[in-house]
Amino acid sequence: MATLDLCNISKSFGAAQVLHDISLAIEDKEFVVFVGPSGCGKSTLLRIIAGLEEATEGQIVIGGEDVSAAHPVDRGISMVFQSYALYPHLSVFENIAFPLRVQKMPMPELTERVQKAADILQLTDKLQLKPGQLSGGQRQRVAIGRSIVRNPKVFLFDEPLSNLDAALRGDMRVELSQLHSDLDATMVYVTHDQVEAMTMADRIVVLNAGKVEQFGTPLELYHHPKTKFVASFIGQPNMNLIPATVQGTDGNGVTVEMEGGTRLTLPVDTTGVAKGDSVEVGIRPENVTLGGAALDVAVNVVERLGGLSITYGKLAGGTRFCASLPGNAAVAQGGAITLGVDPADCHVFDARGDVLRRTAAPELVS
Ligand SMILES: Nc1ncnc2c1ncn2[C@@H]1O[C@H](COP(=O)(O)OP(=O)(O)OP(=O)(O)O)[C@@H](O)[C@H]1O
Ligand SMILES: [Mg+2]
Repeated sequence: MATLDLCNISKSFGAAQVLHDISLAIEDKEFVVFVGPSGCGKSTLLRIIAGLEEATEGQIVIGGEDVSAAHPVDRGISMVFQSYALYPHLSVFENIAFPLRVQKMPMPELTERVQKAADILQLTDKLQLKPGQLSGGQRQRVAIGRSIVRNPKVFLFDEPLSNLDAALRGDMRVELSQLHSDLDATMVYVTHDQVEAMTMADRIVVLNAGKVEQFGTPLELYHHPKTKFVASFIGQPNMNLIPATVQGTDGNGVTVEMEGGTRLTLPVDTTGVAKGDSVEVGIRPENVTLGGAALDVAVNVVERLGGLSITYGKLAGGTRFCASLPGNAAVAQGGAITLGVDPADCHVFDARGDVLRRTAAPELVS
């Protein structure tokens, strides 16, 4: 069992507090992804789990055992960094074997472990090469091989694919997901990449300025973001946020008047909102249809991606709006379009940035 519990972790560097009371219960064999803006504390949190950095407060518990005071090598974790940190003068075999050499593992067992890792990572025919003779993706796989041979309880990855080009990232993403299911290991993975987070994670932790904004499955975060921050962070292109004023509330939800004058009744929980309140209506670019009557948009830029036309423009009051429309949509730079939206697809955020719970949101698939 390799559950990973973070209990009330705080971290300060001098006077600057960078992590605030973080508690997370990560399950055995779970693949958890940390996302958040640069500087929000992702790497620091990972380093605290690894034991490379000491928490100012709180405990790290792995498999039910408090390892907060344990040395990194005694924690049963393995960390893979963005930079591969391979030894250039050693062969692939010796690079993978390195932690086992340090442990003075007998040769037959060492060879077996390295060969098994190489097999999983499709490096068997590369074992005698030096890192300089490998592609970026192959080098990253060697670094992962080095972490596999130690049979860790928990794998930690800090942006391991960010040095790779887009195609290779895609391949490695699939390989890592496969590796996760092959090894049945608990994995914590830091990334800036939306697609990696959405596709690889069992659950995603969204961090903002050293605090957990939300911890949930990718589709929970997409359909039920608790805050404006999460809503804008998850989903590409980003969710549109339109200023609106509450006109009234009833059993059907909240009636708002959005910038531009359109009124909509949105099926959300009305607790805590009243007529006259300022709110923001969140609409994802993929949730609008061309030719509806909810929004008038003056078009500035159209990006034709083939299958989609990503259309950027402005509403009457100057708020930016992005629509993800079909590839052949009749839109042009300098033109004007009207867009429709299903009220059930709208999100509403109060003045603090907290969501009003959606009462007619789509069912989540698991
Ligand atoms: N050793 C250190 N001394 C002082 N401040 C530090 C130290 N390490 C990190 N910090 C600060 O802690 C904050 C969080 O840094 P961290 O590296 O965890 O961010 P991150 O979320 O991983 O960012 P990125 O996405 O850019 O990698 C930053 O403000 C950073 O300046
Ligand atoms: Mg980092």
